[in-house]
Amino acid sequence: MSESTELKGPDLAEGVAASDLADGGTLVGHANGEAVLLARQGECIYAVSATCTHYGGPLGEGLVVGDTVRCPWHHACFSLRTGEALRAPALNPIDRWDVENRGDRLVVLGKSRAPAAAPHMAPSTISSVVILGGGAAGQAAAEMLRREGYRGKLTMLSADAAPPCDRPNLSKDYLAGSAPEAWIPLRPPEFFAEHAIDLVLHARASRIDVAEKRVVTDGGKTYGYEALLLATGAEPIKLNIPGSELSHVHYLRTLADSRAIIAKLDKAKRAVVLGASFIGLEVAASLRARQIDVHVVAPEARPLERILGAELGDFVRAIHEEHGVTFHLGQTAKSIDARNVTLANGDVLPADIVVAGIGVKPAVALAEAAGLAIDRGVVVNTYLETSAPFVFAAGDIARWPDPHTGENIRVEHWVVAERQGQIAAMNILGRKQPCDLVPFFWSQHYDVSLSYVGHAEKWDQIVVLGNLSGRDCTLEYRRGEKALAVVTVGRDLESLKAEAAMEKSTRCPPNA
Ligand SMILES: Cc1cc2nc3c(=O)[nH]c(=O)nc-3n(C[C@H](O)[C@H](O)[C@H](O)COP(=O)(O)OP(=O)(O)OC[C@H]3O[C@@H](n4cnc5c(N)ncnc54)[C@H](O)[C@@H]3O)c2cc1C
Ligand code: FES
Repeated sequence: MSESTELKGPDLAEGVAASDLADGGTLVGHANGEAVLLARQGECIYAVSATCTHYGGPLGEGLVVGDTVRCPWHHACFSLRTGEALRAPALNPIDRWDVENRGDRLVVLGKSRAPAAAPHMAPSTISSVVILGGGAAGQAAAEMLRREGYRGKLTMLSADAAPPCDRPNLSKDYLAGSAPEAWIPLRPPEFFAEHAIDLVLHARASRIDVAEKRVVTDGGKTYGYEALLLATGAEPIKLNIPGSELSHVHYLRTLADSRAIIAKLDKAKRAVVLGASFIGLEVAASLRARQIDVHVVAPEARPLERILGAELGDFVRAIHEEHGVTFHLGQTAKSIDARNVTLANGDVLPADIVVAGIGVKPAVALAEAAGLAIDRGVVVNTYLETSAPFVFAAGDIARWPDPHTGENIRVEHWVVAERQGQIAAMNILGRKQPCDLVPFFWSQHYDVSLSYVGHAEKWDQIVVLGNLSGRDCTLEYRRGEKALAVVTVGRDLESLKAEAAMEKSTRCPPNA
């Protein structure tokens, strides 16, 4: 992911005519070598960094909603007033500058020295929190607890060997060889000590005792809690065919998994990817970037059709074929041996490496054994509270009441997990923040990025607006008159607008 470092527009330190910045409008320029976004809301003029702190997205191409600015790439949301990263995936604030209105000129002065964000409310009475899971939801929750002024004990138990990492990158640039491993940790090691987060790796919890309020790990250690967040994510579904146990058959969930695949690629010429959903296709693209011959095998007629429909399924397939991927659709693998994968129709595909991306299942065994309500995930209410007192759940495991569709949904996507982690943290502190987020995810296929807002498991029709093959298109997934989800290709601003419109129509009243 490249950073938008090119400086555009006027030198704002020299000033611009006030009339150049309309009410509700924005203007991108620079000051002392940094890209600066000016925004006007009535009498208020804001000057903030024009570069998103997630992957460097250009905020000047984003959307201003009230006193926030949203990033066009992955929909992070920042406060224009304080610079605070209000919503993931950005976790760091953006810089702010002081602006002076000198008659008819707006002049950007130095960087604002006032604290970017102070804890919003008085700390709660909770003094001991355990987070089970060191992934997207767990990390975002831990950070939000500290940001909100929580000073008590904070323990994060993770079965992973690695600290919380940028999991989406494991199938993309990192696997393709274009992102160094230094980009993968969400935070440097010293972050955890600095924020008094007791991160315990290799710590798989084996039991939760909700009556005694404690968690027991495989190693027999016990961790008591006043509030517990379950954020155990999902696990890859394993193959169950002859040869599945061979050492060149891989899955991809953790940094160790991605490293193990990369370690095999030096000697690999041909790969078979089992599964044509997001992970399988992203693996295919990354292996093609390493000049490996890739064959994708999947039972469905079109990649991604169940999630995105026929039009986008065909579009995504065509992109991969243009990049040299060969599909074997309507097919499954029957067996694997040291050299080949044999399909159900008898075709034999040579394979030096096999990567299976055949789906994931939510890691709910602990919650189930602890007696929590389960329905294809851990059941939570709008505050992400489970059926057990002081136990919250967030991320891939949580099934929550989605106000937009009126259904209980579970979503396996990064930004949703992080935002739920942030909401759960607020609710651990007693803030009663409803989970009324509009689900969002992105998926990258070579140079084409799809942005998806909303949630549609079933739809009556897909309305295609624009030119899909020209990569300039909006697809609305409608049930009746209502657009449940919107996918855009090459229209990032449209995606932000669709998200803002859905937010407006579903925002819960405070303390609902
Ligand atoms: C390769 C890959 C690429 C992806 N790309 C995208 C993308 O482009 N866009 C997108 O929106 N989403 C993407 N996703 C999905 C996204 O990463 C997940 O939705 C997200 O990570 C879910 O966050 P989570 O916190 O619920 O779970 P996770 O991030 O999976 O974290 C779960 C944590 O729980 C720990 N754990 C599990 N069981 C236990 C236990 N018993 N005791 C202690 N710890 C335990 C695990 O070790 C892990 O640390 C991708 C996923 C993968 C694997
Ligand atoms: S670059 Fe801004 S949200 Fe990712």
